[in-house]
Amino acid sequence: KAISLIGVPTDIGAGHRGASMGPEALRVANLGAKLSKRGLDVVDRGNLQGPLNPWQPPHDGYRHLPEVLAWNRAVHEAIYAELKDGRLPIMLGGDHCLAIGSISAVARHCREQGKQLRVLWLDAHADFNTADVTPSGNIHGMPVACLCGKGPQELVEIGGHVPATTPDVFRQIGIRSVDEGEKRLVRESRVSIFDMRHVDEVGMKRTMEEALSDVDDNTHLHISFDVDFLDPTIAPGVGTTVRGGPNYREAQLCMEMIADTGRVGSLDIVELNPAFDKKNQTARLAVDLVESLFGKSTLIR
Ligand code: ARG
Ligand code: MN
Ligand code: MN
Ligand code: MN
Repeated sequence: KAISLIGVPTDIGAGHRGASMGPEALRVANLGAKLSKRGLDVVDRGNLQGPLNPWQPPHDGYRHLPEVLAWNRAVHEAIYAELKDGRLPIMLGGDHCLAIGSISAVARHCREQGKQLRVLWLDAHADFNTADVTPSGNIHGMPVACLCGKGPQELVEIGGHVPATTPDVFRQIGIRSVDEGEKRLVRESRVSIFDMRHVDEVGMKRTMEEALSDVDDNTHLHISFDVDFLDPTIAPGVGTTVRGGPNYREAQLCMEMIADTGRVGSLDIVELNPAFDKKNQTARLAVDLVESLFGKSTLIR
């Protein structure tokens, strides 16, 4: 399988600076070489370019909307081109606002190919805020809402199909922080959320069986891996830590069960923030988990 790494060095949608260093931290942690070693044909396309972070307060409920738009347009085109070429894109973020560009591209590809899209949203957060309810104005808290048509016109229209996706394509796993007004939005949208209480009660194994239950031969699985999904004790290198996330073994099992489907078609690795990390440990952990996502296991391969 042919894989393309696409760096998107920006923290334009985040509440802390530093996710812009994520692509380089993943390269330093040897992401490309580790996947090549697994027999995958990996090409690093380098970094996309876009506006600097002006670090301004929110304007009409959004921080940096013009800059977020520019970055996401670039992401959409780059990811779409890789998929069209039959390759599997891995977006090295960057903050989670970039999933608007990547997932709108994957959705467009799936529509054209007659594929069923499933998005596994691995995150501490639901990222379903809108301008009316956001506590911060940070657009990394809004990508799922935008992809479902709730958001500023310009972002909602990226890729030309409105809405880009619908709530039923998402399976959110690891969720443990949903803002007050956001709670109503996720309830009304009926997006499927396997929160940490669910993981506690039934375990990661059954959670993943449920989340993957309707994956079939015609499914394109997109994994949107927000590194703050992981418990902060093992993954301190993110801007928005929330205690009580999956531990190392739970995260491994999650990745291994996704790999077993054989349907992984695209991946985002986002919110890695080397400014909060120690010795690049969070990047190295993310790479370790991504190896599992691409089939590494203890006893075979
Ligand atoms: N819910 C909070 C907000 O809207 C935090 C969002 C964090 N999102 C993320 N992708 N890390 O500001
Ligand atoms: Mn998050
Ligand atoms: Mn997120
Ligand atoms: Mn495909």
